[in-house]
Amino acid sequence: MNVLLIGSGGRESALAWKIAQSPRLTKLYAAPGNPGIADIAQNLDIKVSDFDGIAKAVKDNDISLVVVGPEVPLIDGLADFLKTTPNPPLVCGPTKDGATLEGSKDFAKQFMVRHGIPTARYKTFSGDTYDEAVAFLKTLQPPYVLKADGPAAGKGVIIESDFQVACNELKEMFSGKFGKSSAEVVIEEFLTGIELSVFVLTDGHGGYITLPEAKDYKRIGENDEGLNTGGMGSVSPVPFADKEFLEKIDTRIVKPTIDGLIADGIDYRGFIFFGLINCGGDPYVIEYNVRMGDPETESVMPRIDGDLLDLMEAAAKGDLSGKSINFNPKTAATVMLVSGGYPGSYEKGKEITGCDTVKTSQVFHAGTKTKDGKLVTDGGRVIAVTALGDDIPLALAAALQDANKITFDGAYHRRDIGKDLLRKDWLRKEERGNKHGK
Ligand code: AMP
Ligand code: GLY
Repeated sequence: MNVLLIGSGGRESALAWKIAQSPRLTKLYAAPGNPGIADIAQNLDIKVSDFDGIAKAVKDNDISLVVVGPEVPLIDGLADFLKTTPNPPLVCGPTKDGATLEGSKDFAKQFMVRHGIPTARYKTFSGDTYDEAVAFLKTLQPPYVLKADGPAAGKGVIIESDFQVACNELKEMFSGKFGKSSAEVVIEEFLTGIELSVFVLTDGHGGYITLPEAKDYKRIGENDEGLNTGGMGSVSPVPFADKEFLEKIDTRIVKPTIDGLIADGIDYRGFIFFGLINCGGDPYVIEYNVRMGDPETESVMPRIDGDLLDLMEAAAKGDLSGKSINFNPKTAATVMLVSGGYPGSYEKGKEITGCDTVKTSQVFHAGTKTKDGKLVTDGGRVIAVTALGDDIPLALAAALQDANKITFDGAYHRRDIGKDLLRKDWLRKEERGNKHGK
C-alpha cells in the first residue's frame, strides 16, 4: 500500500523509519517531511494545515493510509475532512471529537472523572469566576498547577509555588496570555512522583495494542534543571514500570479510557499517549495526547519488533482483533542534539556534519533542512540519536558516542538521559519531590 505520513519532526522521522521496514509498504510519502525522511520517502511540499493539498496528494498518489504525526491537524479535524473526500483513505489518527482529549484539558478532566480514571483533583474556571478560582487555589497545597484549557504549543502549564504569583498568573491567563486557549483554566492538585509515557494504538471498537513505555526528559539542563524544552531525550523501557505497575496502568487507566471512548460514542482510531505519574506505586493521568510522543517515539520505534504498519492499518480499519506486538527486550536511549541557546532564542542555518559517520545508532532528523546542497539546522531540536543496549548505561553510552560524531556550531545535548532511573537517583528524586510538594 502507499502511505502518506503527515509531519516533519523527530517523531515523524522515527515513524517513517519504522513504516519503511514494512513488507506491506509499496511507497511512503511525507508531507512535508524533512531531509532525514527524504532518504526513505518522497517528501511533498504540503503544510500539515493544508487539508485540500493533503486530499489532493492522497488522490494523486493513490494513498490508502494516512498516518498523522502531530496533534494540531487532528484537533483541527483532518481525519474528519479526509473522510468526506471521494474514495477516502484510511486514517491513523482520531477525528475531532477524539482529538479533544488533547485539545481541551477541561474535556479531558471531565472524561476522566466520568469514567473513574485516576487523575489530580481539579476545577475549571473562566475570567468571570476569578474569585472562585482564587478560593479554590486556597484549598490546595503549593505548588499550584494552572493549565490553559486549549492548545498552547506545550507552554500552557504553569507550576508556581508562591500563592500571590499564582493568582497573578491566573489573571494574566484569563486576560489572554495564551490567547483564547486560556479563556478557561484548569486548576489542579500537584502530584508528586515520577512521570512516564504509555502509548496505545486503538481501533475504535475496543481493540487496542500497548506499545513499549518510555520516559522523556523535558528540561534543558542535566539533573532536570533549567527551562522546559520540547524534549531532550528519552529511554524505553522504564525500569520502575514493572509487570505489576503496568497491569495497574492497564486496568485502571487504559481499559477505562478505551471503554469510556466507546461509551461516549467516540470512534477513536489511532494512537493515545497517556502522560502518567507514579505516585507511591499508583498511576495517575497527568494528560492525554492524541498522537505519539516526541522524543519518546524515537526510543519506542526501535523497540517494536515486527510490522507496525500492519497494526496501524488494522487500527484505521477499526479491527485490531487477532493482532499482537512483540517488544525488543533491549533498552533504547535517545539523545537530542539541540541548537545553542535553545529553548531561548537560537540561530538556524548551521551546517551539520558527521551524520554519515554514525553506524550503530539510528539518526532521526528533527529540525534540519537542505540548503545549497548542505544539511543545516532549522529548529531548536535538530537531531535525535537512538541506540539500543543491554541496559540504560550501555544504551546511553552508545547513543552519546554517536551523538558526539555529529557536529554543528553551538550543538548541545544532555549526557544524563535515563540516569535518574538507576535506583539510587530515583530515591533521591522522590525525596526532593516530597520536599517540594505535598
Ligand atoms: P501537561 O502539558 O499537562 O503534560 O503538563 C506539563 C508538565 O507539567 C507535565 O509533564 C508535568 O511535569 C507537569 N504537571 C502537569 N500537571 C501536573 C500535576 N497535577 N502535578 C504535578 N506535575 C504536573
Ligand atoms: N514528550 C512529550 C510530548 O510529546 O508531548
